[in-house]
Amino acid sequence: MSDKGGLEGIVVARSELCSIDGQNGILVYRGYDIRDLAEHASYEEVAYLLLRGDLPSSSELAAFKSDLAAARVVSGEAAQVVDLIAQDAKPMEMLRTAVSATSFDDADKDSNEEDANQRKALRLIAKIPTLIGRYQRRREGKEPVEPDPELDYATNFLTMLRGERPTAEEARTFDVAMILHADHEMNASTFTARVIASTLSDMHSAVVGAIGALKGPLHGGANEQVMKTLEAVGSVEEVDEEVHRRLVEKQRIMGFGHRVYKTMDPRAAILKEYAHALSERADGTEPNWYEMSRRMEEIVLAEKGLYPNVDFYSASTYHYLRIPTDLFTTLFVASRVVGWSAHVIEQHRDNRLIRPNSEYVGPARRAYPVGSR
Ligand SMILES: CC(C)(COP(=O)(O)OP(=O)(O)OC[C@H]1O[C@@H](n2cnc3c(N)ncnc32)[C@H](O)[C@@H]1OP(=O)(O)O)[C@@H](O)C(=O)NCCC(=O)NCCS
Repeated sequence: MSDKGGLEGIVVARSELCSIDGQNGILVYRGYDIRDLAEHASYEEVAYLLLRGDLPSSSELAAFKSDLAAARVVSGEAAQVVDLIAQDAKPMEMLRTAVSATSFDDADKDSNEEDANQRKALRLIAKIPTLIGRYQRRREGKEPVEPDPELDYATNFLTMLRGERPTAEEARTFDVAMILHADHEMNASTFTARVIASTLSDMHSAVVGAIGALKGPLHGGANEQVMKTLEAVGSVEEVDEEVHRRLVEKQRIMGFGHRVYKTMDPRAAILKEYAHALSERADGTEPNWYEMSRRMEEIVLAEKGLYPNVDFYSASTYHYLRIPTDLFTTLFVASRVVGWSAHVIEQHRDNRLIRPNSEYVGPARRAYPVGSR
């Protein structure tokens, strides 16, 4: 193990899902390069690939999409939970709580059999966008937009969130962002999900635990922090001074650095192009977030040798899609639930309790001070 701790370099599971070549910036889902998937596939297709083991035929994809669309509706207690907490709970608190409530009436909640896990995964993927959309509308004091089974995943999601149909370019951009976040090997939230599953606990518990892990600013919470940094900087002209000041103060610059990538995160490279394209359609009433990001990238690379990770360009991309900043990490959940569920299925398929050791560094054994205090 590395002396730095953090389980760096330790293999904790065997997986067929995802591999990363951190030196060369390559990310692969079940053998397919993420760049090919981002160019040619849809999010639904990638979800099928990760969950079922291979790309679907066109009829398999059509059936999978229709099952997903049919499972989008959230009713009963989970819907009531969202309505009850929308004004007080922050987005990730809402999701941590509401996703848990979706298990109450799940017919498969007591089974960890593979078929049951596949059905639960599909329902979670379908319902999480509805929870997020409902929450957003409720906290704005508006009626939720019900899911439309005629729409694809990305178009439906953005419609529920914003109350109006996205353009085809916006929907495709969002779909690609979802593809890019769907899995990422043994990251902290996926490890959390696998640890929970390894006790033979259920899919919903594993996903709720993973949401808690993703929430932290060193993991999925970084995308929200990136947007806050861009807003605090305010303009392209201010970037140099502000980034240097933060570096001198030894602050972490959110959206940079990665445990595994030692070069540009391939997901960041793809999102950078989408953010650029969206910035060219912007109406000019806001700062040029893309140019600010690009300049930050240059400075942080020159000064610290750190490259952007997926959270860096997802921030401006989501902002250009008119998604509120505090929802960014919930979008990460919406996508990554695919990876978490696929890992839970793998874990349950060949389970052994994950139970490592710790090195004791406390006091040596000593006598209890009977009557002397
Ligand atoms: C992602 C991250 C946690 C991985 O870090 P890690 O492998 O645990 O590396 P460490 O935290 O041990 O950092 C190693 C060194 O790089 C520096 N570093 C790493 N990321 C940095 C960042 N974003 N800004 C400034 N310095 C950074 C650390 O300060 C440390 O320097 P030191 O050795 O002088 O103390 C880290 O890069 C980070 O905090 N990034 C910002 C948060 C973020 O974007 N998270 C999303 C990840 S997808």
